[in-house]
Amino acid sequence: MQLIPTETKDEMARIGAGLFAEQITSKPNSVLGLATGETPRELYGELIGLYDAGALDFSDITTFNLDEYVGLGADHDQSYHYYMHDALFDHINIDPARCHVPDGVAADLAAECAAYDEHIREAGGIDMQLLGIGVNGHIAFNEPGTDFASRTHQVDLTPSTIEVNSQYFTTPEEMPRTALTMGLGSIMDAKRIVLIASGPSKAETLYRAFFEPVTEEVPASILQNHPDVTVIANGEALKVIREKGLL
Ligand code: PGA
Repeated sequence: MQLIPTETKDEMARIGAGLFAEQITSKPNSVLGLATGETPRELYGELIGLYDAGALDFSDITTFNLDEYVGLGADHDQSYHYYMHDALFDHINIDPARCHVPDGVAADLAAECAAYDEHIREAGGIDMQLLGIGVNGHIAFNEPGTDFASRTHQVDLTPSTIEVNSQYFTTPEEMPRTALTMGLGSIMDAKRIVLIASGPSKAETLYRAFFEPVTEEVPASILQNHPDVTVIANGEALKVIREKGLL
């Protein structure tokens, strides 16, 4: 694992976007794995800035998002379809037909999950995968205890995730309790992984994920077994790692 410490969230977004920009420039038909949440939003803003400056071309790029709530359609402002259009897709020259987000309102959710992994395979696999990390160590919606070999599947969200994410809904009850997520096995197939983490709530988790033994209780710890992971984290998220003298 390569760890890039940054002082601010802005710097983190710039460095993360720089890695994606290099990937897109060196392979214009790259397959990118994308994430939602608070942390990636600024990184997408940086990519839009590079596109506006004429430095990036997304016309041959294919994307696969990590996850989606079950029951939220693309027009719901808390769906990850909506987020991706708002945060990135609507502002760049990407072909919407090449942008994949699991369909949380599919009639047959199991078939949707199986087809998702198949589409990633058909596209040639993910070249670079962006990840955040949950306060409970989840990556995508793979909650603690998820099988390391899992493929795209339906999950029940844990109370911790419901507590963190329900703030974005008008009432906490509106937040779906289940989601579709790429599995840990699906994520580990990506050729390169970039994980971004910011804020004090991630400090303990980041330490446990990368400096404690690999365990299904901390899903992100599986990344210790991946050959090409870059972690970009700000000072707050690195607090525990620094206190333990590991950086
Ligand atoms: P965040 O989410 O970027 O909103 O902190 C990360 C995650 O839960 O995966």
